[in-house]
Amino acid sequence: MQNPPGRVLIARDEIAARVNELGEAIRREYAAGAPILVGVLKGAVVFMADLIRAIALPVGVDFMGVSSYGSNTRSSGVVRLTADLSVSIEGRDVIIVEDIIDSGRTISYLRRNLATRHPRSLALCVLLDKVTRREVEVPVDYVGFVIPDEFVVGYGLDHGGHHRGLRDIVVLDALQGQAG
Ligand code: IMP
Ligand code: MG
Repeated sequence: MQNPPGRVLIARDEIAARVNELGEAIRREYAAGAPILVGVLKGAVVFMADLIRAIALPVGVDFMGVSSYGSNTRSSGVVRLTADLSVSIEGRDVIIVEDIIDSGRTISYLRRNLATRHPRSLALCVLLDKVTRREVEVPVDYVGFVIPDEFVVGYGLDHGGHHRGLRDIVVLDALQGQAG
């Protein structure tokens, strides 16, 4: 086991409990039809896997890949599409599943991109929200946790490709003083 790279912000039990609540909320809202979950690669993969099981309804599953970060900790503001959906979402109830919202640029780009494909509805479920960092307004339908402006890793979130496999969400201490 590697040493945790920082202090635990949200422990695995809290994550699990909250993901179950989000799943139940989505199940209640979408009981009538099968929504399609669109996970944002790669950070949302772990959250998505747990959310699918927490919703406990038949759901469609697909992914979009976007990249706005190198190993930097601040969004470049330029969002690049690295993988596209494999199915049509026309007429479907779509829920975008994202790991974290920071400036809001990534999700705002994705929302606009998916809206042009005429889904019946388009909602957003995000595990973590750094509300104080927001530069672009985005409507968020389901939020796991509002967190302070600190760079976190674990539970799918990475720094330069590292730490995605941590079970807890951890504040990366080594970044102290690094400019964004
Ligand atoms: P935004 O476009 O500024 O909202 O940035 C959102 C994207 O930046 C997310 O999809 C993450 O990939 C990444 N990101 C933002 N904050 C963090 C963090 O604290 N840890 C890991 N990735 C982050
Ligand atoms: Mg991401």
